[in-house]
Amino acid sequence: MSQLKTLASTPPMGWNSWNTFGARVSEAVIRETADTFIFSGLKDCGYEYIVIDDCWSRREGRDQNGNLVPDPERFPNGMKALADTIHGKGLKLGIYSDAADFTCASYPGSYGFEEEDPRLWASWGIDFLKYDYCHAPVDQATAIQRYTRMGQALQKTGREILFSLCEWGGRSPFLWGRQVGGHMWRVTGDVVDSWTNIWIPEHNWNALGIDPVIDLAANLHVYAGPGGWNDMDMLVVGLKGKGHIPGMGANFAEYQTQMSMWCALCSPLMIGCDVRTMEKEVAALLMNREVLAVNQDPLGKQARRVQKNGPSEVWAKPLSGGSAAVVLLNRGSSAAEITCTAGEIGMLDASKLARDLWKQVDIGDFSRSFTQLVQPHSTMLLKVTP
Ligand code: GLA
Repeated sequence: MSQLKTLASTPPMGWNSWNTFGARVSEAVIRETADTFIFSGLKDCGYEYIVIDDCWSRREGRDQNGNLVPDPERFPNGMKALADTIHGKGLKLGIYSDAADFTCASYPGSYGFEEEDPRLWASWGIDFLKYDYCHAPVDQATAIQRYTRMGQALQKTGREILFSLCEWGGRSPFLWGRQVGGHMWRVTGDVVDSWTNIWIPEHNWNALGIDPVIDLAANLHVYAGPGGWNDMDMLVVGLKGKGHIPGMGANFAEYQTQMSMWCALCSPLMIGCDVRTMEKEVAALLMNREVLAVNQDPLGKQARRVQKNGPSEVWAKPLSGGSAAVVLLNRGSSAAEITCTAGEIGMLDASKLARDLWKQVDIGDFSRSFTQLVQPHSTMLLKVTP
């Protein structure tokens, strides 16, 4: 049971292959991403898990012993060697499966192999499992049963394996995620590379953009805390329309807003862009230490919306040491002045300092309220210290 206490004491941080690579994920991509974690500074900022999403195994099925087999062309040296390399760099390796016969992309799933697969993953040195829910029965009771079975089997391996639940929020996983051994649970469908939703007729799919996802996580603050987090899905920051997933890209302000909100709401931070080729401005969004400190604050309190005035919103997140992170969010399409009061953010009308975390500058003292001009689709992320 001790693993539940130590794992995910703050929201997990890392990278996941899906948003950029889809079925093209390979051992080379994973090794190069790990190298980039080291020299770009991502690792020093706390990004730790490198997660191989769907499509890593041989599509035709298991071997004659019933074991999953890594795709021999894309993972020619197998997963154990890859995990050793990743561990050698001080990083952790994640893998993916599904609580049914097939994964979302129709590769073999783990249903009926809940004892065998975790044993195999543990023998390879896997540190993280994302467990998807395509092709599984829709009811909540079955979901709880299937996630419980996997959660227990992971614990039985004796290896610390972070358990990431991915049933997209429809069966209220925030109510039972911890109970089944989960450390994070998706509360939304897949977020695509766009500010607004995108209708994708071929899949009859209203794919979620950055902006609408914020509302899906908004009222779930009571469920987040050390050891278990509401997962708002992987970051689309930096994809710029070049990902495997749908979307033409978002602008800089919109990507910055995703980062501000995912940090304030204590979402796990799983990068989705190709970090090997990320530009400076993307690196700056992903590696602002003062912004990341909001996400990683040891108190682990998810921000709450404390003001909604049309498209203008104020969110507040208590931080350890008595300060608070405050987000001024403008979801509208023209600039707006947003005023926030001390009372709203749980503070007294006494002198306090506001610091702009993106710019890393103090912007002044206030006691009762302060007002800032916020650009369209932008956020100001502040730290307020009494
Ligand atoms: C689902 C998940 C995604 C990704 C894909 C892979 O859609 O929600 O995050 O893992 O499956 O097929």
